[in-house]
Amino acid sequence: LDNGLVLTPPMGWMPFERYRCMTDCVRFPRDCISERLFRRTADLLVSEGYAKVGYKYLIIDDCWMERQRDTTTDELLPNENRFPSGMNDLSNYIHNRGLKFGLYHDVGYKTCMYQGPGAIDHFELDAKTFASWGVDYIKMDGCYASERDLDKGYPAFGQALNNTKRPMVYSCSWPFYKSKPNYQLIKKHCNLWRFAEDINDSYESIANIMQIYHKQQHLLANHSGPGHWNDPDMLVLGNYFLSYDQSRLQFAIWAVIAAPLIMTNDLETVRPEIKALLQNRDIIAINQDRLGNPGKCILTKHNFQIWARPVEPINDMGIESFAIAFVNHGEFPQCPLCPQTYNVFLNEMNLVNPMGYTVVLK
Ligand code: GLA
Repeated sequence: LDNGLVLTPPMGWMPFERYRCMTDCVRFPRDCISERLFRRTADLLVSEGYAKVGYKYLIIDDCWMERQRDTTTDELLPNENRFPSGMNDLSNYIHNRGLKFGLYHDVGYKTCMYQGPGAIDHFELDAKTFASWGVDYIKMDGCYASERDLDKGYPAFGQALNNTKRPMVYSCSWPFYKSKPNYQLIKKHCNLWRFAEDINDSYESIANIMQIYHKQQHLLANHSGPGHWNDPDMLVLGNYFLSYDQSRLQFAIWAVIAAPLIMTNDLETVRPEIKALLQNRDIIAINQDRLGNPGKCILTKHNFQIWARPVEPINDMGIESFAIAFVNHGEFPQCPLCPQTYNVFLNEMNLVNPMGYTVVLK
């Protein structure tokens, strides 16, 4: 979407994979979806150094609303028990810390997990409400909608956002719910789009999403670039189940394919080595490379893969430069966790400059 926003992939935080739809604030006051969680996370994004390296969008996912619209105005309402100070107050709190405020909605009849009121029949009203709350980013889901509703709804809601004159990043789930997504159209109307199923906190889930991308990487990479990005879903680093190497795998591949870097974790308990990884400026620089040219898997040999992304030349001689990630998926029957050696020639990676290359390890 050509609205001048997200010329590099957005970076931020979203609760869904970590906190799901926890609404019981009596038993789980720290973990429930409430203004308390977002205030604490806004503070931590700043105090722990995440905002400084680029994580700016603090996005509320599903489960923030009342189940009924306002009976007189039809407006969406934040849940009274969990967001007692209201959305303007939370929005100010977030903006006062130099961050941006994101919110979840659904283009169909109901939101996915919470089954709160969807946007259908209320596009103009909801867009106005979001603008009046100072929202900077909308995650628009596509549950409870027919393919026709999706094809009509995504462009129409985008138009309603545009009509408010407030710049808002428009994140869509349109292709995920379609049997044959029309990326040409999706890219025209959305700043980013989910193309695969929901991620969860496991290596298998990451490997599966990588495989979905790999299978259609020419199509996906061709449609992605400044202002319009493929979204393979959140970074699950810093939770319970990934090893350090698996965390490096997700971060490196998300950087190489120019994915949004949206964390989902408890910033207070992220282990120091994972925090250092999430704040690794070299890898972030690859993700945020200004050419906006997404990478692909360029070689597969047994359980090894090489993924490469063209980036801005690192010297002034104009020699093409690439960020290259070597992936060992392991899974060797004889010894699943053994380190392996792997030989590859530059020409197998299509690196054929007769002058050679400078290698910088990150
Ligand atoms: C869908 C989305 C998730 C999350 C949930 C919330 O499953 O893909 O990212 O937003 O809905 O209900």
